[in-house]
Amino acid sequence: MEVIILDDARAVADWGAQRIVELIQKKPQCVLGLATGSTPLAIYHQLVARFRQGELSFAGVTTFNLDEYVGIDAENPQSYRSYMARELFSGVDIDTRKSHFPNCEPAQNPRSRGSAYEQLIKDSGGIDLQILGLGSNGHIGFNEPCSSLSSRTRIKTLTESTVADNSRLFAPEEYQPHLAMTMGIATILEARRVMLFATGAHKAAAVRDAIEGPLSASCQASALQWHERATVIVDEAAATLLKNADYFRWAHSENEPIMAQFGHFYELD
Ligand code: F6R
Repeated sequence: MEVIILDDARAVADWGAQRIVELIQKKPQCVLGLATGSTPLAIYHQLVARFRQGELSFAGVTTFNLDEYVGIDAENPQSYRSYMARELFSGVDIDTRKSHFPNCEPAQNPRSRGSAYEQLIKDSGGIDLQILGLGSNGHIGFNEPCSSLSSRTRIKTLTESTVADNSRLFAPEEYQPHLAMTMGIATILEARRVMLFATGAHKAAAVRDAIEGPLSASCQASALQWHERATVIVDEAAATLLKNADYFRWAHSENEPIMAQFGHFYELD
C-alpha cells in the first residue's frame, strides 16, 4: 500500500485532481469509479476548473458511482446522482448516459439490481481508477463494519454512526435515508487502481486501522491492504495516529523521482 501524507486538505485535493487529469489525458476512454461526500468535493471542483481551461475532456469517460441511497428518487437533491450532477457532471462535457449509479427503485429487486451493476462494470471493461472516501468507522462505499470482505454490489443498512455523520447534510425536517445500494469490497478490489482520500483529525483512527491495523472486516478499508495498487492520500491531521508516518514520508520522497520520470499511471502502458 502506498501512503502519501500531505500538508493539508488543499494539497490532498490538488494531488487527487492531478492524478485524474493525468489518467484522462493518458486514457481518454477510461472508466472512473467515483465517491460522493465532503472529501472529493475539492477534487471535483478542480476538475471542473481544469476542464474550463481546456486541459481535459470527459467526453470519452465512463463513470460508476460507489453507492446510491435507496428510498429517495434520482431527482431528489440528496441523491448521489444529483450530487454528481451538481458538483462535477454539469461543469464538464461528460456524456451522462455513460454515468452509472447502483440505484434501486422501490419495486425493484435489490439483488438483481446489484448483479446488473456488477455486469455493467464488467461490460465497460472494468474500473481503471476507483476514488474512495473513508467513513469515520472505516467504511468505504457503504460497506459498514463487519460486511463481508467478499461482498458485491448490494443493499446495505447504514449504521447509526454513518447516519449521524451524514445528518450534517440534511435539514432537520428532511427525510434521511438509512438504506443504500453500494459496490462491495470485492467490487472495489477489482479496480485496477484505488485511491483513498482522508482528511481531518476525525478520520485519524480509521486511517490508522485501515493502513496499520490487521486486515479485518471490522475496518472495511483495511481490505485495501490486499490490493496490488492502492494509494492512501491523507493530510497531516488524518495521519497523526500512524506509527510509520516517517517511513511513509521518506518512501514518498524516494518514489517521487520515479513517478516524475514515468508518470503515476506508467503501468497502463
Ligand atoms: C460516498 C461514500 C462514503 C464516503 C465516506 C466519507 O460515496 O461511499 O464511503 O466516502 O462516508 O464521507 P466524507 O467524505 O463526507 O467524510
